[in-house]
Amino acid sequence: MMGNKDSFITVDKVSFSYTGESGAAEGTALDQVSLNIAAGEFVAIVGHNGSGKSTLAKHLNGLLLPTSGDVWVAGMNTKDEQHRWDIRQTVGMVFQNPDNQIVAATVEEDVAFGPENLGLPTELIRSRVDEALAVVGMSEYAEAPPHSLSGGQKQRVAIAGVIAMRPRCLVLDEPTAMLDPVGRREVMETISRLNEEEGITVVLITHFMDEAVKAHRVVVMDEGKIVQEGQPAAVFQEIDLLRELRLDVPPVIELASRLRAKSLALPEAILTVDEMVTALCQLRSEV
Ligand SMILES: Nc1ncnc2c1ncn2[C@@H]1O[C@H](COP(=O)(O)OP(=O)(O)O)[C@@H](O)[C@H]1O
Ligand SMILES: [Mg+2]
Repeated sequence: MMGNKDSFITVDKVSFSYTGESGAAEGTALDQVSLNIAAGEFVAIVGHNGSGKSTLAKHLNGLLLPTSGDVWVAGMNTKDEQHRWDIRQTVGMVFQNPDNQIVAATVEEDVAFGPENLGLPTELIRSRVDEALAVVGMSEYAEAPPHSLSGGQKQRVAIAGVIAMRPRCLVLDEPTAMLDPVGRREVMETISRLNEEEGITVVLITHFMDEAVKAHRVVVMDEGKIVQEGQPAAVFQEIDLLRELRLDVPPVIELASRLRAKSLALPEAILTVDEMVTALCQLRSEV
């Protein structure tokens, strides 16, 4: 089987165990995980520490290969040696710590690193670097030394470095975990723009529920399994389940639930502060 035909990335009954130094399996990090991701989709993956999110992320571009089951990227099996390079270029990865991802002395040299490794001609590299920096809003820092940047700016440069390779999909593993609130917002805005305006498929792993709320679909993991998935409005209504899985309930949803308990007729789909404000104003105008 070549994977689901409407699916850009197909994870088919994937199990994975890390092996220790002795070569013995060290418990199951992924347990029969199946997931289809459509082209252009924005999927958030949430779950408590150790639930298997990073292990799953590394399967999406062949950094890890399934112990059993298969992962297909644009019709290519990640186990297929001959597609390894193609798959890495199709699915770009961004990790938590921008300092570990930045390699060069200036921002533009850093972003050029990937395209240079692709062996592209100099002019094309130049235009890709310029475009990538523009997309993440960092053009004016092209000649700056990366260490002079804020955390959010560094992470945007790291994203630009991946974008310059023209991936169709971006997998980001807790990209805002080390950032302050301003940096988090900058990076989230960048991610949304890449998805909405550039049509890049996004898989965002996050432990911030207010970030997951921005996705089209939320996948919840626990102990190596997918235990829940659906649109944010549906997944985040299940406050008891979220608590059971030791996930934070987004404050706005918590508030909406308390107000409903006090018989306030709020609509179901309140996920953001703006939606809460609109709903409350609506109620007030009806009184
Ligand atoms: N390199 C590794 N070697 C052995 N076990 C690992 C390794 N990385 C992760 N694990 C284990 O695999 C499980 C899933 O980890 P991980 O995918 O990192 O979860 P998450 O990203 O959700 O925190 C955990 O039990 C973790 O201890
Ligand atoms: Mg992780």
